[in-house]
Amino acid sequence: MKKITIAIDGYSSTGKSTVAKQIAKHLGYVYVDSGAMYRAITLYAIEEGLISKEDFNKEALIYRLDQIDISFKFNEALGFAETYLNGKNVEKQIRTLEVSSFVSKIAEVSKVREKLVKIQKQLGKDKGVVMDGRDIGTVVFPNAALKIFMTASAEKRAERRYKELVDRGDNITYESVLKNVTERDYIDTHREDSPLVKAEDAIEIDNSDLTLEAQYQKILALVRITLEGIE
Ligand code: CDP
Ligand code: CDP
Repeated sequence: MKKITIAIDGYSSTGKSTVAKQIAKHLGYVYVDSGAMYRAITLYAIEEGLISKEDFNKEALIYRLDQIDISFKFNEALGFAETYLNGKNVEKQIRTLEVSSFVSKIAEVSKVREKLVKIQKQLGKDKGVVMDGRDIGTVVFPNAALKIFMTASAEKRAERRYKELVDRGDNITYESVLKNVTERDYIDTHREDSPLVKAEDAIEIDNSDLTLEAQYQKILALVRITLEGIE
């Protein structure tokens, strides 16, 4: 069967990675979490003291970009690839609210995007890939056979993300998660380089009132139609 590229973009916490993993598993495709790469660079910047609430030393980060190695290793038990920063597994650390609070600032830096888009294109060069992010259908794979654009109300998204963080033991408030979600939405949609925008040929899905299963079935149906169309 011919392999395709599937691009899933959208706002923070809309369920992109959940459905992307499900679709990749179903098709036997590779799933790539492009947000994890921006999060890994953010973790590096925090650990190296390059970014804080008061300050962001953008020039130093750009200067050190070549020293940042991001890789993925498939974890059989989890069923997806975990993120490694300079050889260290950082899968859990990159998901904290602290990393989320700085990541959109890091993602505004064109040199950061240049480095990561190059890796992303390389990962998808043989097709058979489902990648989620903000600019996958517009910049990374403008020729993707299927492009999905996910939306949901900010409150619903914050509720879902809050629950996820509390379940894993993080000590946070719903209000702080909602603030982060809306702040990131703003920066991601207003930045100059590769802003979050629906690609003209993307199919928009609002999942505010869709369960995970309903959302999966809806997207799976689109995948089937796309595959039938190219055979
Ligand atoms: O999972 P969540 O939607 O909260 O975020 P993510 O996909 O892990 O992405 C984290 C951040 O990385 C986003 O808020 C964007 O600022 C940035 N990002 C980006 O600029 N371009 C991408 N292709 C993916 C993520
Ligand atoms: O990747 P992205 O940030 O877009 O979202 P995610 O990490 O896949 O989903 C964020 C949270 O919302 C997860 O805990 C999902 O299980 C949950 N979710 C949900 O409950 N119902 C949906 N229709 C979509 C996501």
